[in-house]
Amino acid sequence: MTPTFQVQDCPIFIGSLAATLPAWLEKQQYSQVFVLCDQHTEKYCLPYLVPYLVSNQGATIEPGETSKNLASCEKIWQAMLQANLDRKALVLNLGGGVIGDIGGFCAATWKRGIDFIHVPTTLLSMTDAAIGGKTGIDFHGTKNTIGVFEQPAAVFADPFFLQTLPDRELRSGFAEVIKHALIGDPVLKAELMDTLQSNASLNLIHWPAVLQKSIAVKVHVVQEDPLEKGLRMLLNFGHTIGHALESLFLNSDEPLTHGEAVYIGMICEAHFLSSIAIYPMDEPEDRTKGSDLQANVTALGRHVFKHRSIPTSAFPELWALMLQDKKNLSGTVRMAVPDKGAFSMKIIVPSQSELERSLQYFNGLN
Ligand code: GLY
Repeated sequence: MTPTFQVQDCPIFIGSLAATLPAWLEKQQYSQVFVLCDQHTEKYCLPYLVPYLVSNQGATIEPGETSKNLASCEKIWQAMLQANLDRKALVLNLGGGVIGDIGGFCAATWKRGIDFIHVPTTLLSMTDAAIGGKTGIDFHGTKNTIGVFEQPAAVFADPFFLQTLPDRELRSGFAEVIKHALIGDPVLKAELMDTLQSNASLNLIHWPAVLQKSIAVKVHVVQEDPLEKGLRMLLNFGHTIGHALESLFLNSDEPLTHGEAVYIGMICEAHFLSSIAIYPMDEPEDRTKGSDLQANVTALGRHVFKHRSIPTSAFPELWALMLQDKKNLSGTVRMAVPDKGAFSMKIIVPSQSELERSLQYFNGLN
């Protein structure tokens, strides 16, 4: 049972749960296993886990980003109290990014911290959210504002669960795969281009291989910079604008998925880079780099994500949301975009009017 990757003390297993989880659990000897699900994973994924569990302790929350809040934490902590979870207990997070983030946070703060593992069930969480120890919740309409870095005790990514995903959810996770290909794996980028050019369907993708490559990029970055003091900021490519868009539409009639928002964010952030007139002090090749980046994002995502115009009236609120981003310093909005070659980055500091120009550019793409 050799893990595919290791981040600090956290082994990452890619493959069938049956081949990895029971043996790992057996070895650890936890006093109890508490399973956190949402209503979807309870219905569609928990049955695959039940044979490996000795009891049915746990909690279930509503699915979706609107649950990633203090009220859900309280519900989870209450269930932990009822289950008498001691400090040798394990929290098993069965679900996507929301379940991993909130379950990790509740475990990391329970009795000053107990172990948790992630069994990610979405493409997004397998390739991104489950890896690297970010836990937390949203607060008053801002994303991931409260949280701690705490590595899971292990991650078990079983590509089988991708078959249980609705198509829009699978597409959402694909934005992170695109991001990883663009920031760190030119071979993966070329392979995805080939696959998607011949046929825009994600059904043609061989997920175990793509997952492995995509997770390798994330692992490389978090090993280098676990606490996001530098390189890890690059994982936020597309996310500064993406998170603001996601927050903006969260309670609307048509919320954006995380991936849809990040895809728009990557196009707009690449557009900043291509606007050399905005950054007269930058190197002249930035314009070309930005245009190439923009072309690559568009080529990989245009058949995957439906175009969605951003209303001009929402631009000021988007800017206000971006001002809450954790990467900001001294009241400026900072974002990391890919620079020359794999794993190199550039920090850009756009103004409100530059944001608005990039959103207008995106709106005009269709
Ligand atoms: N999802 C970005 C990170 O883990 O840093």
